[in-house]
Amino acid sequence: MESRAKMTIQHIPISLTVNGKTYQDEVEPRLLLSDFLRHQLNLTGTHVGCEHGVCGACTILLDGAPVRSCLIFAIQANETTIMTVEGLGQDLEDLHPLQESFREAHGLQCGFCTPGFLMTLLPFLEENPNPDEGQIREAISGNLCRCTGYQHIVDAVKLAAEKMASG
Ligand code: FES
Ligand code: FES
Repeated sequence: MESRAKMTIQHIPISLTVNGKTYQDEVEPRLLLSDFLRHQLNLTGTHVGCEHGVCGACTILLDGAPVRSCLIFAIQANETTIMTVEGLGQDLEDLHPLQESFREAHGLQCGFCTPGFLMTLLPFLEENPNPDEGQIREAISGNLCRCTGYQHIVDAVKLAAEKMASG
């Protein structure tokens, strides 16, 4: 008689803060942070493009630093503080200057890449309040956009720097 091995998938408890709210949940050890954010917390603003660290669409802030959420497991985010694109402005009256600038300078077309760009640029502009074009292009060199040709994104970052400087 054939014996069938039963496989039980272990779930690990995690606790983390996302956009100012504390979550306690249980996750499979293999669950990616990007999938945890999208499917367990329903924060679908974090986009998944390549799922192997190339496109930057899944970028979030983890303890203030931009990381690719498709490259780490949810369990590695235990006891961390995360900010996703939903942590920026949620409606037109409440946009962050970076979001306003992308809108005004046509820094997006389909918008698929935009959350990753915004989460990459937020700490960049905080550390570099007056970047030149070369610094901006280097900062976004890890984010892929198939629509804009990047020039409008660069223009949006310059505009955002001006807006953030004027408070
Ligand atoms: S989906 Fe994470 S880098 Fe492309
Ligand atoms: S706006 Fe479409 S991929 Fe960037």
